[in-house]
Amino acid sequence: MQIQWYPGHMTKAKRMMQADIKLIDLVIELLDARIPLSSKNPDIDDLAKGRSRLVLLNKADLADPEKNREWIKYFSDMNIQAVPVDSRTRKDFGKITAAIEKACAGKKEKDLKKGITGRPVRAMVAGIPNVGKSTFINSLCKSSSAKTGNRPGVTKGKQWIRLDKNVDLLDTPGILWPKFDDERTGLNLAYIGSVNDEILDETDLAMSLMDTIRSLYPGKLFDRYGVDEGGSTVEILEDIAVKRGCLKKGNEKDYEKAARIVLDEFRSGRLGNITLEMPGR
Ligand code: G4P
Repeated sequence: MQIQWYPGHMTKAKRMMQADIKLIDLVIELLDARIPLSSKNPDIDDLAKGRSRLVLLNKADLADPEKNREWIKYFSDMNIQAVPVDSRTRKDFGKITAAIEKACAGKKEKDLKKGITGRPVRAMVAGIPNVGKSTFINSLCKSSSAKTGNRPGVTKGKQWIRLDKNVDLLDTPGILWPKFDDERTGLNLAYIGSVNDEILDETDLAMSLMDTIRSLYPGKLFDRYGVDEGGSTVEILEDIAVKRGCLKKGNEKDYEKAARIVLDEFRSGRLGNITLEMPGR
């Protein structure tokens, strides 16, 4: 299933970010901990060239804890700090301020040499749609005395948030990129709900997700739905439809409804902690 989704508002948002980057010291990129590579937008990489970087593996609570550790090491080997976070519960949020300071230590030193002191770090928060950016920013602000609003000297109409005396955050719209590198990237983005479901065939998508899950995490579909994982994917979906009472008139199985259940339960973590891709694999 080849998936592409790049609506016009994303081109516009990217242009805005290209203009704003001049003001930015640090790019905080939110990735989805379940698909850290597929959720890494190459356009944000280009945009962030020459800036300090910080990666947050958001929704870490939904991913496989062991794989989270492997991904942190992967980024650390590339000299990028990566912090796993759960923006809903604010777990590990204490580590973020320290990580921002560490990422910007070089910039602070340069400022000092020029006699500049006390200038807050200007950080752009970027990521794909649905990665949890709004939740993250709201949670981070709640744990500080953040103030939102337009700030003088900065482009008008932008959402700048003063996190504390040391950090100003710039929120940006969630963007994807014009062409996904391969079929797997598009699928992974669709599984987690970052591609508009309306352009997708949800039954095909759910079946492809079920195939991936049963090969990476044998037993998870059985644990959740009590289905025999040995059959064909259609048979498993049919079984789920029966077990969950997804029936149309005349007792015909409602595959679409069963597919939606699988997608929803994966996205919300009810299928368990699942990471869909690993470094180098
Ligand atoms: P966005 O701005 O990047 O588009 O994403 P947003 O914050 O709207 O979050 C998208 C969904 O992801 C929301 O769920 C949100 O609660 C959830 N979410 C964000 N961060 C985390 C996280 O770290 N862990 C988990 N488990 N979920 C997270 P929703 O179902 O669409 O909305 P709601 O019912 O929670 O309000």
